Amino acid sequence: MDTTRDLLVRLEAEHELSREEWINLIDNRTNEDESYAAARARDVARGIFGDAVYLRGIVEFTNICKNDCLYCGLRRSNAGQHRYRLSPERILDCCESGYELGFRTFVLQGGEDAWFADEHMVPIVASIRERFPDCAVTLSLGERSHESYQALFDAGADRYLLRHETASADHYARLHPADMSFENRMRCLVDLREIGYQVGAGMMVGSPFQTTADLAADMLFMAEFRPQMVGMGPFIPHHATPFADRQPGTLADTLFLLSCVRLMLPNVLLPATTALGTIAPGGRERGVLAGANVIMPTLTPTENRSDYLLYDNKICITDRAETCIGCMSRCMASIGYRVVVGRGDAPGFGPHGDVSRKGN
Ligand code: 5AD
Repeated sequence: MDTTRDLLVRLEAEHELSREEWINLIDNRTNEDESYAAARARDVARGIFGDAVYLRGIVEFTNICKNDCLYCGLRRSNAGQHRYRLSPERILDCCESGYELGFRTFVLQGGEDAWFADEHMVPIVASIRERFPDCAVTLSLGERSHESYQALFDAGADRYLLRHETASADHYARLHPADMSFENRMRCLVDLREIGYQVGAGMMVGSPFQTTADLAADMLFMAEFRPQMVGMGPFIPHHATPFADRQPGTLADTLFLLSCVRLMLPNVLLPATTALGTIAPGGRERGVLAGANVIMPTLTPTENRSDYLLYDNKICITDRAETCIGCMSRCMASIGYRVVVGRGDAPGFGPHGDVSRKGN
């Protein structure tokens, strides 16, 4: 019988474990295993990315959402939430100021807001592509049709973030209302991959009803799907949701799973999320020391930030973008890393139109 340490050694060597092994590892790991996993994951990331941590500027351009996910503060049932939508000009202004600060990846993230149907979204992507030809455009707009994903890709989007949220259909049904389906989520991820996006999947750690078997299913799904990016942070309750009284995910669980993801998918672009920075001071630094290699500071106009709250106590909602970038540079320097603002594509992918773009 393998010890938990044996399992970590094998994960690093073979990049996969069975369902039973994942459950054993997650349930029975010791503090020493956590430190070992972090040290190995950090080494693997260093071997591939050196001391670079990639910065992506995120523009949270609408908090209007037609969905009613039980965990999210932007759910449509949260009637007390003030809603906003940035105009296309304002979105471009955010990219402009991000560009001046040195960002070369823009992440446009929003709720599922019907106004941003293709007739409005495609021209926005095309204008960013035209105005900032040396930048990567990442979209995080939720579930759309194949046709829409294709149109946005053709307009110049490079990457798409769509967390799978949980790879277990039963668990999915406990986190989402009946009008959302696990099958459609998976369909979207497959479409994005097939179109040629660099695709991000991921889940919350410690979400309500999550079992170790669910986490094992997430790891097996990601081992098979092989996303270029993995977005993974702790669940944090939001006071105006049905999960207001639930416990948040823990720092230790999140860090350990980040390390496991790095060992399983060595090349993956792995953010130390804002949620991780929210549950513990220095959480994002700890994330980088556990194998993460991306940080996503916000470029959202300061006056809108306090309205883009997926969970309570979100950090950095009063700072200006230039403060965030300075703060992140110092924090990363303090742990021996250097923030870089280049495109930072997944290995095998290049700028739009590059022949290597569909390279994996
Ligand atoms: N806590 C942590 N993460 C959350 N998300 C949504 N609500 C919460 C919450 N309460 C995550 C989801 C979503 C991403 C944009 O934010 O995983 O995909």
